[in-house]
Amino acid sequence: MLLQAVFLLLLHCLASTLGHYELCKSLVSTDEGPVWEQYACQPKTASMKDHMRIKVDPPGITCGNPPERFCTLENPYLCSDECDASNPDLAHPPQLMQDKERTGLLTYWQTVTWRSHPEPLLANISMSWNKSLELSDDILVTFEYGRPTIMVLDKSMDHGRSWHPYQYYADDCMDAFNMQPKLVADLSPANITRVICTEQYSRWVGSKNDKNVKFEVRARFSVFAGPRLQNMDSLYTRMESMKGLRDFFTFTNLRMRLLRPALGGTYVQRDNLLKYFYAISNIEVPARCKCNLHSSQCLLLDGNLQCQCEHNTTGQDCQRCKKSFKAKSWKAGSYLPTPNGHPQLLHTSWFPLRFQ
Ligand SMILES: *[C@@H]1O[C@H](CO)[C@@H](O)[C@H](O)[C@H]1NC(C)=O
Ligand SMILES: *[C@@H]1O[C@H](CO)[C@@H](O)[C@H](O)[C@H]1NC(C)=O
Ligand SMILES: *[C@@H]1O[C@H](CO)[C@@H](O)[C@H](O)[C@H]1NC(C)=O
Ligand SMILES: *[C@@H]1O[C@H](CO)[C@@H](O)[C@H](O)[C@H]1NC(C)=O
Repeated sequence: MLLQAVFLLLLHCLASTLGHYELCKSLVSTDEGPVWEQYACQPKTASMKDHMRIKVDPPGITCGNPPERFCTLENPYLCSDECDASNPDLAHPPQLMQDKERTGLLTYWQTVTWRSHPEPLLANISMSWNKSLELSDDILVTFEYGRPTIMVLDKSMDHGRSWHPYQYYADDCMDAFNMQPKLVADLSPANITRVICTEQYSRWVGSKNDKNVKFEVRARFSVFAGPRLQNMDSLYTRMESMKGLRDFFTFTNLRMRLLRPALGGTYVQRDNLLKYFYAISNIEVPARCKCNLHSSQCLLLDGNLQCQCEHNTTGQDCQRCKKSFKAKSWKAGSYLPTPNGHPQLLHTSWFPLRFQ
């Protein structure tokens, strides 16, 4: 009996120290004996690039079919590099954007060169997961041979039926999109979900100095949680009270629209179009499954991510009640009260229905 009490106490302490919604429930001892205490819970963050389905458009945008030569902005007169889709050593297919880079060997997707100038060189990269996800850190896209001078990141929350711009990127926001250039640092708590155009990741700094284009999640979180995200409770409290905040970080699909490649800090030089193209070596998407705070685990089942629902809920996102429970009492869990939150399901309305 004493041993059991100690065990229960231990479990309870574990729940409190884990914090941040890692446990959905724990057994606690009461005068009437052990009972389950239920908490809001969410899965751990993961590298979602491993589960992403990737598609590039238009057909034929990937280089190498037929084989073609290209050069680089830094070495424009040595056009001896070759892309050849039929040779594994010289091919640059889309899956190289999501492979694990072995040290010393960079692999990347690469497009055809801008031979069609003055027609724009356009490419879309669509990423889908067939699962609602929530960003937990910055999206990081790594470009080889220079970052695009104009691009848009879009997102969908309904599996690609509708799309919304997420962030605009240009070396001149006014010129490209008729938008004032902004930094996430310019945003206040009240307008943190504003869609901005940034010039931070599009200007020419040499192709090796900065290869990354970011969608800043950390900087947006830190507006509420402090510069080192030391006060996540404050962020989670805002997630509950501020309309649209959680949705802002939620997506099922992402799309990059590449609208103009790197130009090397100058105008397009028509006498050498073989140095203009896009090349991406990595796309990092740190996120967690959205389970409406009713699951602490998200598993890959038959190739699809799926929340392992608790609290008598079910569905891909734990977005409804289990069959034998009254459907109208479903609610998403709440981060409040911190640090363990609440499943938000009212016990009184949770008597199982009996079907005859
Ligand atoms: C990229 O997607 C947008 C939106 O669906 C579409 O209008 C555009 O034509 C696509 N571009 C390419 C190059 O496929
Ligand atoms: C998406 O996921 C759901 C639930 O896991 C599954 O039933 C469905 O077949 C999946 N769709 C595709 C296209 O994989
Ligand atoms: C956000 O709000 C701040 C302060 O209210 C304001 O200075 C800033 O211009 C706003 N940013 C945008 C992008 O609207
Ligand atoms: C789920 O159902 C069980 C059995 O009716 C009940 O004891 C438990 O409290 C319910 N869970 C929640 C989170 O309401």
